[in-house]
Amino acid sequence: MCVLVIVVVRTVTFPSYQTRPPPCNVTDQDFIPATKDRLDRLGRAVTFRTISYEPGRGTPEELLKFIDFIRDSFPVVHSSPLVTREVVGNFSLLYRVKGSDRSLKPGLLAAHLDVVPVTEEPGWDAEPFSGQQKDGFVYGRGTLDCKHNVMGQLEALEFHLKRGHRPKRTLYLAYGHDEEVTGQYGAKRIAKLLEDRGVKLEFLLDEGFAVTKDYVQGVAKKVALLSVTEKGSLTVKFSVRMKGGHGSMPEKESAIGILSQAVTKLERNPQLNLWGSGPGRDFAEHLATEMSLPHRVMTSNLWLFTPVIRWLLAQKAGYMNSMVHDSDCFRSEAVAIVDHRVHPKQTIQDVLDHNVKVIKDPRVKMEVLKSLVPAPISPSGLESPAYMVIQESILQVYPDSLVAPFVLSGNTDTRHYWNLTSAIYRFSPNVMTPEDFPRLHGVNERISIEDYERTMNFYFHLMRNVDKPLVVRRHEHDVDL
Ligand SMILES: *[C@@H]1O[C@H](CO)[C@@H](O)[C@H](O)[C@H]1NC(C)=O
Ligand SMILES: *[C@@H]1O[C@H](CO)[C@@H](O)[C@H](O)[C@H]1NC(C)=O
Ligand SMILES: *[C@@H]1O[C@H](CO)[C@@H](O)[C@H](O)[C@H]1NC(C)=O
Ligand SMILES: [Zn+2]
Repeated sequence: MCVLVIVVVRTVTFPSYQTRPPPCNVTDQDFIPATKDRLDRLGRAVTFRTISYEPGRGTPEELLKFIDFIRDSFPVVHSSPLVTREVVGNFSLLYRVKGSDRSLKPGLLAAHLDVVPVTEEPGWDAEPFSGQQKDGFVYGRGTLDCKHNVMGQLEALEFHLKRGHRPKRTLYLAYGHDEEVTGQYGAKRIAKLLEDRGVKLEFLLDEGFAVTKDYVQGVAKKVALLSVTEKGSLTVKFSVRMKGGHGSMPEKESAIGILSQAVTKLERNPQLNLWGSGPGRDFAEHLATEMSLPHRVMTSNLWLFTPVIRWLLAQKAGYMNSMVHDSDCFRSEAVAIVDHRVHPKQTIQDVLDHNVKVIKDPRVKMEVLKSLVPAPISPSGLESPAYMVIQESILQVYPDSLVAPFVLSGNTDTRHYWNLTSAIYRFSPNVMTPEDFPRLHGVNERISIEDYERTMNFYFHLMRNVDKPLVVRRHEHDVDL
């Protein structure tokens, strides 16, 4: 009975994390319309085939043409006495827009100039490097990942400076040229340069996931996923080699048999389910008040329902991908490659220890092929001014949406910037439904003209909103159970 009362009270009184800043309006004096010029510039940006193939192997001529195009496209940015521009690692760009108030720590907006290759050319409704406009969309590789961010940020800055803006807070724009292949020659060098100069940032915003529609269960509105961390990754090679062995005399236990058992054990004993600690919990709580009733009851009462939600999620979560190779069964060696995604609350060692504990068979050798530790978790919520200023800028251009902190599954250039600030966020200001997800790195990558207009205005609002001291807003938990 008592539990029921608590559940009801919490459901009814749970605080909302959503805010209602004044929306951006096409009638505003400083609204940036998606004019023909601006759309054409985005289209032209797509025509440069700035493909990354592997670390150190990209498309140098295309990158050089693209950065020249950028220089010629934004004359105010490139002639302003407030702006310095550096080419880093031959192809990456670092801009610094000097602010007048040295007490304000700089902000940094990141994106990247490179794109992934196009493998399935037929199937596109418009040629993938045409930048063609069709049915209200701009088509092509890079329109979502992420030349729209590069061009949108520069359009906003160009517009802002042209109107006579003199910033108080210094702002960096950092565009790596090899993000798609680990960023080691681009963003890594930019980060090193900034570190060597002793730069400390107030916040950093890079590309990320989108404003999603029909994606979060129990929520009718669109949800902007503002990532506060990234999963790590770990690729492990398991191998079993049987001694001696004549090809013609199969042993009682074959290498592949032992290995298959090991992989089966791993699949039956997934890594510790950590939902309920850290960002997963924050995600649910940020949306709690906006959910349909059954979801709302659960997410307002995670003290009670966390195990239930863990169980529900475990029913569909994939913790790893595995590939079992029988490299040569007659010579009795078998190899399995397992890709783990590492939860931000786990370490690489936790995952390895778990594997050893579960497999319990010394004949199975384990070798780490590559690993990336999960990103630190950036603060979110009302008490984090950097998170809130990004949230509010999103809500100004997407007033019919909600914002929630998220864990990005993939990795971005932010992995190189950890030492510059603890407030690192990832978000791309375009709408996506689950049917659109395959467009990323896939066929028919495209952005709607409306979304590109929002992209430009989002960055413009953000530039304006961060150009003052960021304030913490405390919020009261009136029922703390
Ligand atoms: C935009 O501004 C106009 C004129 O000021 C106003 O009538 C309209 O309601 C506003 N729209 C929104 C979405 O705020
Ligand atoms: C940059 O260009 C110079 C001169 O062309 C070349 O020697 C150097 O290897 C290049 N560096 C990178 C990182 O590509
Ligand atoms: C941060 O700084 C430490 C110490 O200088 C360095 O070892 C580390 O590689 C840096 N991290 C990143 C992500 O650059
Ligand atoms: Zn990207």
